[in-house]
Amino acid sequence: MLKSQDNRGKDKIVLSPKPGPIGVFDSGYGGLTILKHIRREMPEYDFLYLGDNARTPYGTRSFQVVYEFTLQCVTKLFEMGCNLVILACNTASAKALRTIQQIDLPRLDATRRVLGIIRPTVESIGELTNTRHVGLLATPGTVKSLSYPLEINKLFPDITVTSESCPIWVPLVETGESQSEGADYFIKHHVENLLAKDSLIDTIILGCTHYPLLLDKIRKYVPEGINIISQGEYVAASLKDYMVRHPEMDMRCTKGASCRYYTTESVETFLPNASIFLNSVVDAESLSL
Ligand code: DGL
Repeated sequence: MLKSQDNRGKDKIVLSPKPGPIGVFDSGYGGLTILKHIRREMPEYDFLYLGDNARTPYGTRSFQVVYEFTLQCVTKLFEMGCNLVILACNTASAKALRTIQQIDLPRLDATRRVLGIIRPTVESIGELTNTRHVGLLATPGTVKSLSYPLEINKLFPDITVTSESCPIWVPLVETGESQSEGADYFIKHHVENLLAKDSLIDTIILGCTHYPLLLDKIRKYVPEGINIISQGEYVAASLKDYMVRHPEMDMRCTKGASCRYYTTESVETFLPNASIFLNSVVDAESLSL
C-alpha cells in the first residue's frame, strides 16, 4: 500500500482502486458474534476479521485510548485492502466512530467507509418494546457515552432507557470463563441491578458484542416475557441493505465467500476460543499494528 504525508504530518493512505474484503473489527472475540450473522446474510462476500485481543478490554478505557486503538486497527484494515470496515464493537462505535468518520476518513481516504453497530440496533427497538421501557447492558464506556439513550430518543422520544454497566463480563469471555460457575455470580448481579432500577423494562439490549457469548447464563436470570436483543441479526440486515443502497461500495467489495481471521494476540491464544465461539475450526494469523 502506498503512503504519503498529508499536511497534518500523518500517514495518508493513497486510494487503492482495487476491490477488497469487508473488514470486521472488535476489541477481541465479541465481533465474531456479529460476523457470524453477517456471513449468514451475505455469504458471497469476502471478510477479514481483526480482534485486538492483546489490548482487550476496551470498555473500561478512556475515550482517547479507545479512539486511538480503534483508529490504528481501522488503518491496518485499510492497508490490508478493505474499502469498508464495520466496527463490530459498541465501545468503539460509541467512542471512536464519529471522529473517525468526520476527521480521519477525509484525511486517510474519503472514498472508504467505516460503519458502526449502534444505529442498526437502535432502529429495531421501536417495534420490540410494548411498555416503552428498555434496559441496556453494556460496557462502562458505552454506558458513559450515553450513545444508546441519545440515539434511541432521537428516533423514539417516548422510550425510557435504563442502563447497567457490566465491567467484568468482557474479561469473562476473553479469559474463557464464560461457562464457569463464577460467571453466574456476576451475570445475576448485573441483570438484577438493571431490573431493580426499572420494573417496567420489557426489552433488554445486549449492547456489547461479547454478551451473546454469555446468553445462556443471561437467560437464566431474566424473567420470562422480557425480550433479550442480540445485535447480530439487525446489524447483518442493515449491512445488506446498505450494499443495495450503495452499489458503488458494493462494487468495491470482493465476493469469493472467504473469511480470514487476524488477532493482535498470539494465534495459540486466539484460536481455541475463536473456534468455540464460531462452532468451527478456523485458521488465524497474528499481526502487529
Ligand atoms: N465487544 C465490545 C463491545 O461491543 C467489548 C468492548 C471491550 O473490549 O470491553 O463493546
